[in-house]
Amino acid sequence: MTRRLALFPDTTQIKMSPTGELLTIAGCDLTTLADRYGTPLYVYDRATLDVQLATYRAALSACYSGETEITYAGKAFLCTGIAQWAEQNGLWVDCTSVGELKTTEVAGVHREHVVVHGVNKSPIDLVTAVNQAGTLVVDNLTELEQLVPLWQQEKPFFPILWLRLRPGLTVDTHTYIQTGQDESKFGMNGEEILHAARLCQEHHLPLKGLHFHLGSHFRDLTPVGSALEKALNLLTEVGADNDWTLCPGGGLGVSYHEDDLPQPEIESYVRYIAENLVTGCQQRGLLFPRLHLEPGRSLVARAGVALYRVGAVKRSGNRRWVLLDGGMADNPRPALYGARYSALPVWQPRRAAAGPAWLAGPYCESGDILIEGLPLPQIQPGEIIAVPVSGAYQLSMSSNYNGARRPAVLWLEDGESHLIQVRETPQDVVRRDRRLWPIEQEGKPGAVGQQMPNFRFVKYHALGNDYLALNPSDVPGGLTPTQIRLVCDRHYGVGSDGILLGPFEDTECDFRLRLFNPDGTEFEKSGNGLRIFSRYLWDEGRVQEKPFTIGTPGGRVISSVHRGGRQVTVEMGVVSFDSRKIPVIGPLREVLNETLLIGGQELRYCAATVGNPHCVVLCDETTAQDAQRLGPLIEKDTRFPKRTNVQFMKVLDRRNIQIEIWERGTGYTLASGSSSCAAAAVAYRLQLCDAHIAVHMPGGQIDISISEDFTVSMTGSVSKVCEGVFFWEHLYPSP
Ligand SMILES: Cc1ncc(COP(=O)(O)O)c(C=O)c1O
Repeated sequence: MTRRLALFPDTTQIKMSPTGELLTIAGCDLTTLADRYGTPLYVYDRATLDVQLATYRAALSACYSGETEITYAGKAFLCTGIAQWAEQNGLWVDCTSVGELKTTEVAGVHREHVVVHGVNKSPIDLVTAVNQAGTLVVDNLTELEQLVPLWQQEKPFFPILWLRLRPGLTVDTHTYIQTGQDESKFGMNGEEILHAARLCQEHHLPLKGLHFHLGSHFRDLTPVGSALEKALNLLTEVGADNDWTLCPGGGLGVSYHEDDLPQPEIESYVRYIAENLVTGCQQRGLLFPRLHLEPGRSLVARAGVALYRVGAVKRSGNRRWVLLDGGMADNPRPALYGARYSALPVWQPRRAAAGPAWLAGPYCESGDILIEGLPLPQIQPGEIIAVPVSGAYQLSMSSNYNGARRPAVLWLEDGESHLIQVRETPQDVVRRDRRLWPIEQEGKPGAVGQQMPNFRFVKYHALGNDYLALNPSDVPGGLTPTQIRLVCDRHYGVGSDGILLGPFEDTECDFRLRLFNPDGTEFEKSGNGLRIFSRYLWDEGRVQEKPFTIGTPGGRVISSVHRGGRQVTVEMGVVSFDSRKIPVIGPLREVLNETLLIGGQELRYCAATVGNPHCVVLCDETTAQDAQRLGPLIEKDTRFPKRTNVQFMKVLDRRNIQIEIWERGTGYTLASGSSSCAAAAVAYRLQLCDAHIAVHMPGGQIDISISEDFTVSMTGSVSKVCEGVFFWEHLYPSP
């Protein structure tokens, strides 16, 4: 069993717990992660990724004196988080389609780091690549001909071109992943390469490199040496200078099973390539080209581990079956290539083997077997099984077979786990479907066959003001007020100060948002809600650091997210004290310093709108009791026909105010963004404060800036609390 441990990420340890020994990665207990995020679950160990990359870099600088670069072959596994890691480490990222290009865009990968591959790029792939990539690898002459007119239109931004050579050499690997042999569909033979180079010269296309990739998951390097010879001959004929790149692709294999250990050495692979290149250049009197490697599997495979929960254990014939909750849908490699994996139980991983086990998934294929005949201890239903070397070509080739929901992915670093891909929901499985015809009784929740699907929510709080963010595609048709009341109920539902439903598409802003109070009513705008929604867009990979616009029924705001999502600035628009806009009944006026007799007290107040109505009561002291006693009376006072939010404000000094808040439809709240804006604007309008004001609330502090025309922007923190799936069962009492 201990030999198997060598297959796992570098940070893997066996730690003692009150229930026995447990497998941990990066200091994270895998059982806890499986319980929290569900299974199948994929985890990536950052430390292992870093070490693999450092090994490549060290070997390159030790063995090659020319310039070098590394591209991460995104096809091994690409998601926004991994692309961010690649960019942070100065890697280039290889993309094959507009989908992968989107991922690099969302991750903020710089254009010059994006390389586009593809054996039959569609017109949309080509145009997107021309717009977004730094380098485009031309697969064939037809593609090159299509590029000529694009080059003529887009010259200043056109990517540089490499040509993909098919060297006519076979590497020792599964035939499905050999790509350099004569009959391969990939690339051009030597003659075609020379023809393509002439075409590029004729049209002054920016040809700067030659690329080949012989295939994936090989150990014997000899064919790579022969391919380098062929490539150098071509470079000599083309007359390449030192501004040329030679890329011998990727393909170094990894060990998936303890019988295949030790792992192939990255150092030897790089040295082999570098030495052949140096000798080949010297023999031909060629200047050293830039050496560009393109590894996928050897970088990420060992960093990834798949976790499955055992459902049943049973015998059929002589076989002991350990049935898992994942299999060929998240890892098609055993079924595709006969890949041979290994595994360890997470609890008591050093238990002695009790004979061979067949580990299979839940899918309707007899070929859905992850591991055949692996010696394993006695395994109980409910145990977690960890399959190492699961980081490459598993999730990137995963499917929704049998309606499987693709797993969540965690990034493990220094004892912390970060969710970098959420598990798909049942709603995701039908997201692309369109009904042929409407089904009866649509929109009447509770009707037979009409139950709302369970939906995913993410809960956040901004200074103690908590909202649930829901994606409209998870709740088609929206929620009724009764449903909202239930979801927001702190005893019967998830509990929250409201619901943020979005993003919807909009022609006038980047995203549109609908906001709901916990009493089910829809409202116009909320500062905390908008900051939370901005953070939600960030977490879902929909926005980056540059500002974006959100449309709400209370107007459009400009938002920007900083400090890894933890802080958000929202420009809320212009505050107005105009009685018609707020609205407040009576003659048209600015509602400043008026009096209100309520609950036996005479109060001095101002009213303002930030897209929603506010009544700011000026006080010498503010107390939660006053807010709770007087807030509901003021909210419903007849002078505010749309009801109003209420703030009880004490000015502390020219830069600080303190408020207690009563929110329309919600009640007493610990903090509110739009309330802070309204109160600060009133303090500024009455010349009690300067233009930059810290608003202190029981839930925390928000910083408000006010410009001359009373445009207010606020900056404050947002925290993600949890995410989960809301089950509708209690909304549909059983018959
Ligand atoms: C063009 C290209 N480059 C690089 C790779 C990465 O290969 P590997 O993941 O085996 O390193 C592939 C995968 O087959 C590929 O097609």
